[in-house]
Amino acid sequence: MNQFCETYIKISRENLKHNAKYFKDLSNKKLIAVIKSNAYGHGLLEVASVLKTEADLFAVASLDSAIALRNGDIDLPILVLNPLNIEFVGIAVNNDIMITISSLNDAQLIEERYKHFEKKVLVHIKIDSGMNRMGLKSIEEYQAILKFIKKSEVLKAVGVYTHFHSPHNIIYSKSQQEKFLEIYQSIPYEFKYVHLCSTSATLNNLDIKQSTHVRIGLGLYGLCESNYVKPVLSMYSKVVIEKEVKKGETVGYNANFKAYQDAIIGVMPLGYSDGIIRKNTGRKVYIDGNYCDIIGNICMNSMMINLPQKGLTADVEIIGPHIKAIYIAKHLQTITYEVTTVLPPHIKRIVE
Ligand SMILES: Cc1ncc(COP(=O)(O)O)c(C=O)c1O
Repeated sequence: MNQFCETYIKISRENLKHNAKYFKDLSNKKLIAVIKSNAYGHGLLEVASVLKTEADLFAVASLDSAIALRNGDIDLPILVLNPLNIEFVGIAVNNDIMITISSLNDAQLIEERYKHFEKKVLVHIKIDSGMNRMGLKSIEEYQAILKFIKKSEVLKAVGVYTHFHSPHNIIYSKSQQEKFLEIYQSIPYEFKYVHLCSTSATLNNLDIKQSTHVRIGLGLYGLCESNYVKPVLSMYSKVVIEKEVKKGETVGYNANFKAYQDAIIGVMPLGYSDGIIRKNTGRKVYIDGNYCDIIGNICMNSMMINLPQKGLTADVEIIGPHIKAIYIAKHLQTITYEVTTVLPPHIKRIVE
């Protein structure tokens, strides 16, 4: 992490907790907090430390993130969502980390490889209800895997889940609900965790009475379209050099900006290696009551803005209350997920 740098990210503890409570109240279910990919760029341990009192389980994509949580003294249950190489299953078990499985073959390989293990391998079975990414697709596969696990000395099924691919589309989502229920109900089994709904799925009322948890990512960070959630992340840097340029002079690589009048250019010590990719050129930042354009090509470690005057010493808001993630996402022609998830771990996160 860069300690001696002007660029930093602020995480609002209060807003993070508010959002978590909102989704618990709205769904009336327990909360699986999705904190994969460095908590969508917000900071894995920073977010986990705040949410450990609100969430019942943390979901991450990789075993590395799960181990980082354990090393950071997080003792809540953890689920790895991505498939895990059989070789690493023992490490997961030794750290009390649950894994996802999607095939009888994987269950059989785990049984064979870990039959001498003292602790059981706790698994969530993933059902593919239509996304065609991970999970088993048929009643036959589900019954085979569940029957196998019921007899197993090594594995224990604790969870079952699926994921909606288009939670804004009622036709697709109803069909996914039906497919999940058809498979899940084809054989009775008492799971501790039954979970389907992401942020949009929860907001769009796609949950079923059989579920126990909702599995929320984006909404925790206040990045979804809802009037009831609050943004959690803001990012700031400083103008470290002020430069006067004359009308007609150019700024930065490839002379991509030409001053149409005399101007004051502010140089800030962050660039595309800090997650502010080059497509951000042309959008605004905010300083001391002024919205300023990002100009010229963004460099690897620096970027330039067009200042209204000299001597503005306030921190420059790169993302925050005046420069919202949704505005940035529109400018970048992407989704809000990507705006924060690309912010790398070396940027200092301050929780307050
Ligand atoms: C399997 C799974 N569950 C839940 C989520 C959380 O989704 P959201 O961030 O839309 O709440 C994701 C996000 O990508 C996911 O892949």
